[in-house]
Amino acid sequence: MATERTLSIIKPDAVAKNAIGDIIARFEKAGLRVVAAKMLHLSEEKAGGFYAEHKERPFFNDLVGFMTSGPVVVQVLEGEDAIAKNRDLMGATNPKEAAAGTIRADFAETIDANAVHGSDSVESAEREINYFFGNDEICPR
Ligand code: TYD
Ligand code: MG
Repeated sequence: MATERTLSIIKPDAVAKNAIGDIIARFEKAGLRVVAAKMLHLSEEKAGGFYAEHKERPFFNDLVGFMTSGPVVVQVLEGEDAIAKNRDLMGATNPKEAAAGTIRADFAETIDANAVHGSDSVESAEREINYFFGNDEICPR
């Protein structure tokens, strides 16, 4: 296993539920370190560019609408096997299918407002981290 970095977003539904701290505590308890973080209210352009891979999907417009509906917390998580570890902590995309004890099972009800984003590969993690953070905003530790 290698030390990796992954991009995590606490989505508008979870921010609205005041669950930022509970969610970050799960990352830290699992051994992931927050090495960058900021709160943002995404523009349509920024949210659409982030989800560009889904541009042709039927849910794209609703997804952008949701992601711009309120502030989000964007962070870089670092640790052993961080990409897969974060995906495990998140649970399945559809909260109804997410394993018990995962973030999506505990903080979300529907697939279109599912609490968190996490990079799904080394390549997407690199793209997504660079999409939100400059090198001078990341603090390795
Ligand atoms: P996806 O990358 O497939 O899921 P994940 O977030 O687990 O990597 O999809 C991105 C987001 O798009 C997903 O978190 C919620 C939304 N979405 C829908 O609203 N409906 C859908 O059918 C799918 C597949 C995704
Ligand atoms: Mg994805």
